[in-house]
Amino acid sequence: MSQQDQKFKNLVAHCKEYGFIYQSSEVYDGLAAVYDYGPNGVLLKNNIKSYWWKSMVQMQENIVGIDSAIFMHPKTWKASGHVDAFNDPLIDNKDSKKRYRADQLVEGYCEKIQKKIDKEVTKAQKRFGDDFDKDQYLSTNPRVVKYQEDIDGIMKRMADAMTADNMVALKELIEELGIADPENGSKNWTDVRQFNLMFNTQLGNISGEEGKLYLRPETAQGIFVNFLNVQKTTRQKLPFGIAQIGKAFRNEIVARQFIFRMREFEQMEMQFFIKPGTQKDWYDYWKKTRLEWHKGLHDAEKLRYHDHDNLAHYADAAVDIEFQFPFGFRELEGIHSRTDFDLSAHQEVSGRKIQYFDPKSNESYVPYVVETSIGLDRMFLATMATALQTEMVPGQDDPNNTREVLKLHPALAPIKCAILPLKKNDERIVALAKSVFNKLRGSIQCMYDDTGSIGKLYRRQDAIGTPYCLTIDFDSLEDNCVTVRDRDSLVQERVSIDELKAKILPSVDMGNLLEGK
Ligand code: GAP
Repeated sequence: MSQQDQKFKNLVAHCKEYGFIYQSSEVYDGLAAVYDYGPNGVLLKNNIKSYWWKSMVQMQENIVGIDSAIFMHPKTWKASGHVDAFNDPLIDNKDSKKRYRADQLVEGYCEKIQKKIDKEVTKAQKRFGDDFDKDQYLSTNPRVVKYQEDIDGIMKRMADAMTADNMVALKELIEELGIADPENGSKNWTDVRQFNLMFNTQLGNISGEEGKLYLRPETAQGIFVNFLNVQKTTRQKLPFGIAQIGKAFRNEIVARQFIFRMREFEQMEMQFFIKPGTQKDWYDYWKKTRLEWHKGLHDAEKLRYHDHDNLAHYADAAVDIEFQFPFGFRELEGIHSRTDFDLSAHQEVSGRKIQYFDPKSNESYVPYVVETSIGLDRMFLATMATALQTEMVPGQDDPNNTREVLKLHPALAPIKCAILPLKKNDERIVALAKSVFNKLRGSIQCMYDDTGSIGKLYRRQDAIGTPYCLTIDFDSLEDNCVTVRDRDSLVQERVSIDELKAKILPSVDMGNLLEGK
């Protein structure tokens, strides 16, 4: 197993062991690609939501929030294009009976070529040492140039086939490249066919097609159909945005990589309504703004842009912000220039005028939209992947003395402060520890824990990312102070119980993250 695979395996195990994420319906052997958040997971997830919401609504002058229903009128999805075009190309292997996404098989083939490039680069780096110029090498080494041309050619053929909805061409590509089933090596494939990703259900009081309802595959449509309601009731002038956090559902064909690709997940989306003709500027603005936001939590080299080759049916430009997950760079957030596609489509299908009267130019028009869309669960995974570290215990020389610590920003940490009585059988210590707990918990997310030795309790709090541990000992009974241990530096200091709030509250405040501290 590669080091990266091992790291990912540890991360998944850590999420379960410390109450962050469980497989859904585990007692029935689980439900594929559906997960539940545990006690620490839900706290972290709520903090991430709050960080996004405050950044996108509270900190903005012209963005407001809504919370629309998951169920929407079925015509919504006809108008939005999801009934006809929200498909993935599906292919089955006749021998293994396994089902795959045809585009992912081709991408997997290209990833193998990319690995060959990476190998050549590593070798050359070793050979040339400090003199190595990676860009020059990539553009001049004949073998690497040929590999890159192969990737570009294959990806272009795939994008063309997908854009033209040409499933025959996609199958031909798979056969030509000799792509085999990763399970058993068989090349005995069915034809490629389109598979709609929307889940549907039925209204109880209407039978047949009329009563067919969809579980929304994106939260954005709830924003589009409320555009006029929000604009009128808040008297917003263009440009302005509407933000929303909520569940979305997709019947993913291949759901792998833990919470990266789920069938039920949460999105945090913002639609920014603008004057037609200004979309290029706003697209650039949100592309840059959102990348900067991610840099507040992750190193810049773990983030990159990836322009879409194969545009969604509603977009005239689209870019992904990719994050380096333990299994490679993958999409974390999408920025899409959605033109007036959605509002115009709802106007046409509903027969209602959905337009904005521009008091500056004295004209009515259908606004254009630039969207930012991020998966909350992917953000959770990225946050955990960055935060989880195995490090040598600070201040100790023994290389075998390591600890697992979740270095979350204190504002995101599920528990801000753990209250640990040194002796759980001493009534006076327990009474004082409980009184500290009661004093703090109204304003700080605290945890009281007396279930082990102090060393074990510290390790457990490190593993869930608690920035402060407060130990109540015999001295506390005399001096009314507790020992405050800092998660990262491990520095311990005595702090008066009366000053605890003033010490802890400012450092766990979300304002620090929002102001880049
Ligand atoms: N409204 C636009 C839209 O839905 P998308 O690129 O299909 O665009 C946006 O999805 C984001 O939602 C992605 O960048 C990803 O973070 C998240 N996402 C999409 N499908 C997901 C899935 N199956 N599981 C978890 N997150 C998903």
